[in-house]
Amino acid sequence: MRIVALVGQKGGVGKTTTTMNLAAVMAKHSRVLVVDVDPQGSTTWWAENAGEGLPFDFAADVDPNNLARMRELPYDVIFVDTPGSLEDTTVLSAVLDAADYVILPLNPEPLNTPALVRTIRAHIEPRGLPFRILLSKIDRRRPGQLEDWEQLVDDGLKLPRFRQYVRLYAAHSDAPLQGRVVTQYPDTRQNANAIFDYTHVAMELMAIWANEPATVGSK
Ligand SMILES: Nc1ncnc2c1ncn2[C@@H]1O[C@H](COP(=O)(O)OP(=O)(O)O)[C@@H](O)[C@H]1O
Ligand SMILES: [Mg+2]
Repeated sequence: MRIVALVGQKGGVGKTTTTMNLAAVMAKHSRVLVVDVDPQGSTTWWAENAGEGLPFDFAADVDPNNLARMRELPYDVIFVDTPGSLEDTTVLSAVLDAADYVILPLNPEPLNTPALVRTIRAHIEPRGLPFRILLSKIDRRRPGQLEDWEQLVDDGLKLPRFRQYVRLYAAHSDAPLQGRVVTQYPDTRQNANAIFDYTHVAMELMAIWANEPATVGSK
């Protein structure tokens, strides 16, 4: 069992989008639960729009006692979607104490990087949690943007990142209202890259896990 927390102080970077879409891809072969600890409940709203259509289970819970016991639940993977407003709260602590992997989406916006680094230094590294940056909302119409940001993360920030990145596509921004996740996008040429990106992030995560043994029993 793996518990993955989607973390980052900055709102709008793609934590909820990444949670829902990685959960969907992994649900093809694993028992997956998504937990929403966002008081604004954007994940919950998305799940409500989806009705019975989500390929994974879903729960909203902000009770630190319940979060501490997630590992007892009968799932292979649990994704926990957190809002930036949780910074320095008992809820974020409960999530990170339970988690064994952290994904931090980063958009190509320079002002976002100091908060990201602070979050890693303050909450992730002290717990010894493995983590990866996920470059997301990469604009394919801006030549050099991806390469600049890959270099910034690798050589500037010296932080681990997913080789796969997530590009900016309307299919992703339309999905919450439509109550749809990436595995349910119409398989059109227009959607092919949007589907590709999250499928490959999920595959990369599974490849990473194949090389890092899971936490056995309770942590
Ligand atoms: N790769 C992407 N392409 C296009 N829109 C995106 C992408 N990722 C996220 N969005 C949109 O950006 C907004 C913020 O994303 P969200 O996942 O809610 O971020 P967070 O949970 O970090 O606040 C939402 O409207 C979402 O649909
Ligand atoms: Mg969110």
